[in-house]
Amino acid sequence: MPYYSDDLIEEVRSANDIVDVVSDYVRLQKKGNTYLGLCPFHNEKTPSFSVSRNKQIYHCFGCGAGGNVITFLMQYDNDTFQEALETLAQRAGIELPKQEVSARAKQEADKRAQILEINKASAKYFYVQLRREQGKKGMDYFVKRGLTQDILKKFGLGYSNKYSDDLYQYLRKQGYEDNLLKDSGVVAFDEKRGGYDKFWNRVMFPIMDVNNRVIGFGGRVMGDGEPKYLNSPETMVFDKSRSLYGLNLAKSSRKTYILLCEGYMDVIALHQAGFDNAVASLGTAFTPGHANLLKRYTKEVYCTFDSDGAGIKAALRAIPILKEAGITAKIVKMAPYKDPDEFIKAEGAEAYEKRIAQAQNSFMFEIEVLEKDYDLKDPESKTAFHNAVARKILEFEEELERENYIEAVAERYHIGFENLRKLVMHQGTRIGIAREARTLKSGIQEKRKKEDGIKQSQKLMLTWLIEEPSLFEQIESYLGPEDFTDGLYRQAAEMLFSQYRAGKLNPAGIISMFADEEQQREIAGLFHARLKEITTPAEKEKALRETMIRLKENSISYRSRHLEPTDLEGLQKLVADKKNMQKFYRMEWGR
Ligand code: UTP
Ligand code: MN
Repeated sequence: MPYYSDDLIEEVRSANDIVDVVSDYVRLQKKGNTYLGLCPFHNEKTPSFSVSRNKQIYHCFGCGAGGNVITFLMQYDNDTFQEALETLAQRAGIELPKQEVSARAKQEADKRAQILEINKASAKYFYVQLRREQGKKGMDYFVKRGLTQDILKKFGLGYSNKYSDDLYQYLRKQGYEDNLLKDSGVVAFDEKRGGYDKFWNRVMFPIMDVNNRVIGFGGRVMGDGEPKYLNSPETMVFDKSRSLYGLNLAKSSRKTYILLCEGYMDVIALHQAGFDNAVASLGTAFTPGHANLLKRYTKEVYCTFDSDGAGIKAALRAIPILKEAGITAKIVKMAPYKDPDEFIKAEGAEAYEKRIAQAQNSFMFEIEVLEKDYDLKDPESKTAFHNAVARKILEFEEELERENYIEAVAERYHIGFENLRKLVMHQGTRIGIAREARTLKSGIQEKRKKEDGIKQSQKLMLTWLIEEPSLFEQIESYLGPEDFTDGLYRQAAEMLFSQYRAGKLNPAGIISMFADEEQQREIAGLFHARLKEITTPAEKEKALRETMIRLKENSISYRSRHLEPTDLEGLQKLVADKKNMQKFYRMEWGR
C-alpha cells in the first residue's frame, strides 16, 4: 500500500468490526451468519447487501459492490484509501504515524482539503449576499423564475455582487494565500489588477459532490449576457466529467430511476416539483465517467433533454454511453416546450409525470431521429430509410432482441414484419454481419458459458474454504492454488492457502493487499459466493465433489494446453495430478 505499512493497515482494519461500522450507515438485520440490508450503492427494494462478521467483508449480490471495511468507507464516502484509513484509525483510537505519509501525498491532501474549505467559505459568502440588501437583484431574479425559499436553501443558491474583488478580499482576510486561491478557481489573477473574483454580478449555483462538499460553481447572468453561465474551471477537487449537478440529493431519492437533464435550472425546477431524482451534467457533454457514477445508484436513466437540435444530439450521444455502462436509457419528450423547467411551469408536475410514463425506448428514439433524414413520400428515399433501419437493427447481437425490434419498428413504420425481417437478413449477409455475428456469437457464448461455469466453481471453492476452514485438510492433497486458473482468482487462492499454512485465515486482510478498487470488489465477490442451501451431509458431499472435479479437470486441461515442452517438473506434476484424480473419483470423503 502506498503510504502505510501492511501491518499497520491490518491493525487498523482488524480493530474496526465491519458489522459495527457498516451499521452506522446501513440498517442491517441478522440472518444466520450474515447481516442483510438495502445496498447503499444502488437502488433496491429488497435487501441483497450482505455483510459477514466472520469474514469481515461485504458483498452486494445485486450490483456486485464488495470489499472490506476500508473499501466500504472508500465507496460510501467517496474517500481515498488514506482518508478511509484515517477515519477508521480515529474510530479505533489508533494513532497513525505522521512520518509514514509521504510528504508530497500529504501536501496534496492538505491542498485538496483547503480548496474544499475555500469553496465552502465562498458558497456561504454568496449565500449570505443573496439575502442582503445588495443581493436583492439576485433574489428578485430567482423569485421571478418561480423558485421558493425552500428550494433556494436546499440548493444553497447565492449571489456574487457587483464588486469585482470583494470575495477575494474576504478570503484573503480569512488567511488564504494567493497561490492557493488561484488553484481554487474562485479567484483569478492578472498582472495589472492582481487578484479578482471569477464571479461577479451573477446568481450562483454551488456544485456539490455526492458527499455534499462544494466542488465548484456555476454563475448565471441575470437576464441576457454572455456567457449565460460561467462555471468554475476544473481544479484538484472539480472534475466535470465525473460530477453531476443534483446527485448529492438525487442519490437518496426513493425513485428507482434517475432523471438526466441538461441544465442547472432544469434540475432545480424538477426538484421543486417533487422530482427529487433529477441530475444534470455541467455544461459538458455526457461522458462514460458520468455513466459510471450513475451506475452506482441506478440501472435506469430517463433523459429529459431540451427539445431542440442540441438536446437531440445530446440524447443520441448519451444513449450508447449509458448502454455501455449497463444502464437502460429512455427518452422523455419535452416538446412543445423548450426544457423541463419550461414544461413544468406551463403544464405542472402531473403532466410531467405522464411524460415520464410515456418515455420512449432509446432505440425507437434513434430510429425516429434517423427518419428525419429521409423523405418517406419518395419511394427511393423510403427504401433507403428501410435499409438504414435494417442495418441499425443489426447492432443488436441477440437474435431475440433483433426480432423484438423488427416487430416494434415494423409496426411503428407500417412495414410488413416479414419484409423487414428479410431486409435485416439481407443487410446482414451483405455486410457479412448477421451470419458472422450469429456463428461468432453462439461460439463465443458457448465458450463464455463454460468459462463462467469454471469461474463459478473456483469462486464456490474459495468461499467454502473460508466458511469451513476444516475443508482445507480434506482437499489439501488434491487441490492447490495452481488449480485456480484465472489471474485474480489464482492470486487470491495463493494468499488464502498461505494464510491457512500459517495458521490464520484472514480474508478481509487479503482484500487490502490489492490496491485496485475493482480488484478488491471482485475478491470480495470471490469470498462471498452464494452457496446453495445445503442441508444434508450427503448433499454437501455431492456438491463439493462436483465442484472439485470441475475445478480440477479444468486445471488439468488448462495446464496441459499451456505446458512448455521443456517443463519437466510441470509435466510430472500433471501426471501425478491425473493419477491423484483417479484416486479422488473412487474415494469416499467429506464426512
Ligand atoms: P441552457 O442554455 O439550456 O440553460 O444550458 P438552462 O439551464 O435552460 O438555463 P436557463 O433556464 O436559461 O437559466 C444548459 C446548461 O448548459 C450549461 C449550463 O450547465 C446550463 O445549465 N451552459 C449553458 C454553460 O455552462 N454555459 C453557458 O453559457 C450556457
Ligand atoms: Mn432553461
